[in-house]
Amino acid sequence: MMKTDTCLIRQVKEEPLLISALTDVLIDCVEGGASIGFMHPLSREQAMLFWQRMLDSAQRGERVILAAEEPASGRIVGTVQLVLTMPDNQPHRADVAKMQVHRDARRKGVGKALILAIEDCARQLGKTLLVLDTVTGSDAERLYERLGWQRCGVIPGYALFPRGGLCSTTVFYRQLDAS
Ligand SMILES: CC(C)(COP(=O)(O)OP(=O)(O)OC[C@H]1O[C@@H](n2cnc3c(N)ncnc32)[C@H](O)[C@@H]1OP(=O)(O)O)[C@@H](O)C(=O)NCCC(=O)NCCS
Repeated sequence: MMKTDTCLIRQVKEEPLLISALTDVLIDCVEGGASIGFMHPLSREQAMLFWQRMLDSAQRGERVILAAEEPASGRIVGTVQLVLTMPDNQPHRADVAKMQVHRDARRKGVGKALILAIEDCARQLGKTLLVLDTVTGSDAERLYERLGWQRCGVIPGYALFPRGGLCSTTVFYRQLDAS
């Protein structure tokens, strides 16, 4: 668990009650145009199924899911994942994925806190290399650069925005010191 001025970050595993709160964040981000694997409109049913699959996967130890809570209300406002299922020859590596902060809660440092927390988690698991990709020119791209992630390059026309139209993706990596 990690606490900052704006949020409390904790690991989520066996908490089906959180599915609805995580669904709210996902639907809001997709409505806001975030290219995070879904097209608009994303139904509540589809989003809840996604989170159920993610929690099942976390319980199998395939990924770590973090959630950011507003300290006063306990409301979930953001989430990020560390994907641990890697080929046998990459035991030191993990992917960062599905980073999302509700539009209501943005620009207060929640995104930064989530990244720092997932990096800590990765270190504790003995990971020394993290990889992610994000929409070129997005708020997220600026965040990763500011936090010291190394930009590798851009893949043009990589995915669709939720309402259509291709977006490019920027690939980043970060080397971690073993803890
Ligand atoms: C990318 C994303 C997660 C960032 O979340 P966030 O909580 O807004 O992130 P932060 O608050 O840490 O930083 C965002 C901005 O707010 C600024 N900020 C942070 N704390 C602040 C504060 N207390 N007061 C004013 N501004 C602040 C940061 O400097 C940063 O500025 P910039 O955009 O000009 O570079 C969010 O925009 C999001 O969910 N986007 C859609 C999904 C997405 O693209 N995910 C990435 C997939 S890889």
